[in-house]
Amino acid sequence: MKTFYEQVGGHETFAKLVDTFYEGVAGDPVLRPMYPEEDLGPAAERLTLFLEQYWGGPKTYSEERGHPRLRMRHMPFKVNPDARDRWLKHMRAAVDALDLAPVHEAELWDYLERAAFSMINTFED
Ligand code: HEM
Repeated sequence: MKTFYEQVGGHETFAKLVDTFYEGVAGDPVLRPMYPEEDLGPAAERLTLFLEQYWGGPKTYSEERGHPRLRMRHMPFKVNPDARDRWLKHMRAAVDALDLAPVHEAELWDYLERAAFSMINTFED
């Protein structure tokens, strides 16, 4: 049985997904200032490694970063419904650009949407 990671095209697919996503983030007036580093490259690398590991690819994320504990790692940032919707808008565009088979696209999107909803840590503006 091939993993989901392999079925959708491995590293190339996840790198493209995250690169397209960060092009959107780079131009987003709410999300862009949340990223602590001037260069978005390292953040893109972490998200790529995380998603690859989640979907059955290499375990490099945990080797480098330890247990994901994503909700905890997002606590320093104000993830309100507006930030979530913006995150999902850029991710939607990135998923669309991949042109995956509908069954893969649906599975990936379902996960991303649920993960984004679960990352909410404030309802303040
Ligand atoms: C809902 C809106 C979200 C916002 C506004 C947001 C914002 C951020 C910010 C500002 C960072 C710090 C950048 C860095 O230094 O890496 C970050 C890190 C990260 N985010 Fe998000 N994020 C959101 C949702 C998600 C979701 C849904 C996932 C997973 C599917 C995710 C995965 C990650 C990962 C893996 C990191 C790096 C963690 C680490 O190892 O330090 N984020 N996010």
